[in-house]
Amino acid sequence: MKIKRIGILTGGGDCSGLNAVLRTFVKKAIHTHGIEVIGFLDGYEGLVKNKYKKLENKDVSGILTIGGTILGTSNVANPFKYVIQEKPKLITKDLSKQALQVYKKLKLDGLVCIGGDGTLSTAYKLLQIGMNIIGVPKTIDNDLMHTDKTFGFDTAVSVAAEAIDRLHTTAQSHHRVMIIEVMGRYAGWIALYSGVAGGGDIILIPEIPYKMEKILETLKYRERLGKKFTIIVVAEGAKPEGGKIFVSKIIESSPDPVRLGGIGIHLGEEIGKRSGKECRVVVLGHLQRGGSPVPSDRILASSYGYEALNLVLKNKFGYMVALQNNKIVPVSLSKIAGKIKPVPIDHELIQMSKGIGVSFGI
Ligand code: F6P
Repeated sequence: MKIKRIGILTGGGDCSGLNAVLRTFVKKAIHTHGIEVIGFLDGYEGLVKNKYKKLENKDVSGILTIGGTILGTSNVANPFKYVIQEKPKLITKDLSKQALQVYKKLKLDGLVCIGGDGTLSTAYKLLQIGMNIIGVPKTIDNDLMHTDKTFGFDTAVSVAAEAIDRLHTTAQSHHRVMIIEVMGRYAGWIALYSGVAGGGDIILIPEIPYKMEKILETLKYRERLGKKFTIIVVAEGAKPEGGKIFVSKIIESSPDPVRLGGIGIHLGEEIGKRSGKECRVVVLGHLQRGGSPVPSDRILASSYGYEALNLVLKNKFGYMVALQNNKIVPVSLSKIAGKIKPVPIDHELIQMSKGIGVSFGI
């Protein structure tokens, strides 16, 4: 099929590099192939509500280095479970047929969905109801299956590592325990990579439930070595052995309503009480998602945009572009939908860290 017009949207939580994907995709589509690109606004909301903008070269020019997404996004809108306020409560409706009508009315030959596991699981369902879908893996969490990396991850790690560097000097000066809580949902990728890059003394990730006694032992051990401060990097999804994950809020209107958070504060209180040490807690939050992408994310996101268009040109729908062994390859969306990629507990960075005395709380 000769492609004439293609839709694109950015869904889920934003991250650095979204605009880089849009830029490459749109420039190549218009410039080299004369394909029209329709950008849906605010993720799947635009697809359901027919809110879009025809993207021209001028719209994507100069956006490579800019964080966020020029299209807007939403981690609430889902065509299959669209949340509607029917007073007094929120109800969900299946508006996927409405989304399909919009797709058909606009005479789209395909739709590119840039997102994390929620967006891509929905994209897979849209494929099954008749849309020609291509996925692009985005998330700071790096928790998507079958890709070595998602764009946004390196930038988040870089922000977190810089924060750890800054905490080091103040922790040292005050002889304190500094705890930094980073994002990542149910996977510990950001905590592990930033913990290693920033030289964290204790790294706590969801994949390795911690024991408080082991954390306290590490503090004592460091004291015996003459080290008066400790940096703890904790993933928001980390939990004590036999204990529960910390939930910060439930967002009723979201198809994935649980938001994690609170472990940092909990650790600060518990460690302070049980060790008598002065603790301070920093929750890095959305700083990890905002701002300009680091060069490696600019390159990865641009390459994903380029290869996504190549899949469109080949009519290879139902696939996500993925990074495997330094090559961008197509992976069937059926292999990605509904799954997440945890950190393997024998990961080489965990082994290396353990080898130099970093504690994982076990
Ligand atoms: O998936 C990206 C992410 O930033 C997670 O790391 C975090 O748990 C969640 O999104 C926060 O979501 P929200 O933008 O709704 O606060």
